[in-house]
Amino acid sequence: MTIADIARAEIRALKPYAAAIQVDDTIRLNANEAPWASSGDRFRRPLNRYPEIRPSGLRGALADRYGCAAENLLVTRGSSEAIDLLVRVFCNAGRDNIVTSTPTFSMYRHYATIQGAELREVELAASNDFALDPDGLLGACDNATRLVFLCSPNNPTGTLMSRQDLIRVLEARRDRSAVVVDEAYIEFAQQDSVVGLLDQYENLIVLRTLSKALAFAGARCGAVIGPRDVIEMLDAVQAPYALATPVVECVENALRAESLSEADGWVRQIVTERERLIDAIGTMSFVRRVWPSAANFFLIEVDNAEQLLQECNNDKVLLRYFGGALADCVRITVGSPSENDRLLQVLAAVGRA
Ligand SMILES: Cc1ncc(COP(=O)(O)O)c(C=O)c1O
Repeated sequence: MTIADIARAEIRALKPYAAAIQVDDTIRLNANEAPWASSGDRFRRPLNRYPEIRPSGLRGALADRYGCAAENLLVTRGSSEAIDLLVRVFCNAGRDNIVTSTPTFSMYRHYATIQGAELREVELAASNDFALDPDGLLGACDNATRLVFLCSPNNPTGTLMSRQDLIRVLEARRDRSAVVVDEAYIEFAQQDSVVGLLDQYENLIVLRTLSKALAFAGARCGAVIGPRDVIEMLDAVQAPYALATPVVECVENALRAESLSEADGWVRQIVTERERLIDAIGTMSFVRRVWPSAANFFLIEVDNAEQLLQECNNDKVLLRYFGGALADCVRITVGSPSENDRLLQVLAAVGRA
């Protein structure tokens, strides 16, 4: 028994799409492509040709970066696509459920709704710094729980999950649920990725993205890392040629050593700026609370969140409001030093008004 056995029966039986083969130095009359590239086409692989059905070079480069074997990784269009694929592969509509925490990233709900899977949310306590509640999560699981989504650092709270809590959930749900750890913001945290646990836990799946620390949100590229048989099922469901040639080539450039060391510098700067903002904003009169964060954003509680948002908006500074259980809260993304200076000026003016 592996965790792939709990996936939808029709997906377990699905064969990958049989694309036209692509062989260098051949006359390619097998894919109904145009024989000429446009004169403006400057890509290494001309755009008259379909991209590789799956980008093998990029897969290897991402596997090296994230510390896994290439067979354990599928390149996706952002980690959003990975969430969608996982929900479609594991959840039978109208029957299966997904367990997660709240507040957390809203895409888990979005894709669960599209697939007709129930989403069970376990409330995180603001008074406990929104720490993961493994007992609550496990209590919400039953025989129809196919996926557990854990986001660490969590969006929008910035909270890191402890390794101990993750292991508890993995062990309790072994053979019964795939436990998905969304590490979109892990580069900003003082903690290693949980990818190293893959050998020990067959039900662990990890999501990574190039949208945050690597500054490639516009390229739409991420990765799902997990057991080989799960990766094969996700691969069979993902659209053929999902990663466009311009994306593959620009992301390959982004993974070169000099681009990666540039990105490391930005991450260090964001972490320094995050702490500067947290310290400065924490002393403002209308701010009731600032939660610690391990991400490139942080959450604050204020006297009047909607008014604050509006006033910042008027000054052309956009912040994020969620309402509901976070009705008094605002999430602030850490920007460049000059953007952050401007934010502090605007907030200081709000405080004086
Ligand atoms: C926790 C989390 N996961 C995944 C994503 C999706 O990112 P992308 O699809 O750009 O990789 C986001 C985006 O904000 C996020 O906050």
